[in-house]
Amino acid sequence: MSIALPVLPPTPAVAPLAREEIDVLSEEVRALAAERDAVILAHNYQLPEVQAVADYVGDSLGLSQHAAAAGAETIAFCGVHFMAETASILSPEKTVLLPDLAAGCSLAAAITADELRAWKAEHPGAVVVMYVNTSAEVKAETDYCCTSSNAVQVVEHIRREHGDDVEILFGPDMFLGAYVEHVTGRRMRVWMGECHVHAGIRPADIARVRAEHPGADFLIHPECGCSTSVMEYVAAGDVDDESTHMLSTGGMLTHARSSDADTFIVATETGMLHPLAAENPDKRFVPANREAVCAYMKMITLPKLRDALRDGGERYTVRVAPETAERARVPIGRMVAIAP
Ligand code: 13P
Ligand code: SF4
Repeated sequence: MSIALPVLPPTPAVAPLAREEIDVLSEEVRALAAERDAVILAHNYQLPEVQAVADYVGDSLGLSQHAAAAGAETIAFCGVHFMAETASILSPEKTVLLPDLAAGCSLAAAITADELRAWKAEHPGAVVVMYVNTSAEVKAETDYCCTSSNAVQVVEHIRREHGDDVEILFGPDMFLGAYVEHVTGRRMRVWMGECHVHAGIRPADIARVRAEHPGADFLIHPECGCSTSVMEYVAAGDVDDESTHMLSTGGMLTHARSSDADTFIVATETGMLHPLAAENPDKRFVPANREAVCAYMKMITLPKLRDALRDGGERYTVRVAPETAERARVPIGRMVAIAP
């Protein structure tokens, strides 16, 4: 197995828009979406003004479910390329527009279909579980997909269906893999990939924010570079188990809504602070690391969304070869059946 290095992030996005520009562009976007019969889906890490014009904002699982159920002719996807590909795989009859086709993901780039085929050849009979942060070609070589909100359930399902001794190849995120092993108590073969944004949230960040905000609740995305050490802190009794929550971005929102805590340390991409603060104006959300910004997510801007809806065509359309889509639908379908 090779160790895949994350690709470098692209240069940061353009200067922020003024309020008046946002208002004008938002109106244009909504009018164009109505004209084109398009539904706008946005990930929780998108810019606030992009989240504000979307019909649905959510995590990877929620976005897949909405893409599958969308009644509109066109899906305008505000997220990164693998997410738009997943929408196209689930709704092959629809046009899927991504306002910038170069919006990639360092984690999805950490494993190629050739690398996965070679890994499978080394472990015949193993069950392959891949995070949705993978290309359509990788999904086509996969038995089960998972997201951060259902990875544990998917692995537990495999244990029940295939027996305790079955070999599991899990990828491409090593921190999510370590988290799933910790919760299920099940050893797996884990691909050594990482997301450069989450890997950059280090144990030292947690130590610092813990000292600055004693008593705060911890919301930690399992892709984080600090997640393994936080699990160790919890096991050693250094961090209170009750106040530590490993959650997908959607899970963070659900938790914050019902929690009695007033301060939350948020260990994930900083775009997440926007929906958390918008839904919970009386609660305080502190980033574990202010530098945790996904430049790929921030490549999607209102002017590009407007242009994609206005012009459509090859420049903005995500296409997945039909035979790849057919194979990739199988592991996504299994995931959705396990964790609807
Ligand atoms: P979620 O599924 O938790 O939204 O995570 C997606 C992602 O890309 C995390 O970086
Ligand atoms: Fe990919 Fe990381 Fe960006 Fe999520 S935050 S889209 S995993 S590069």
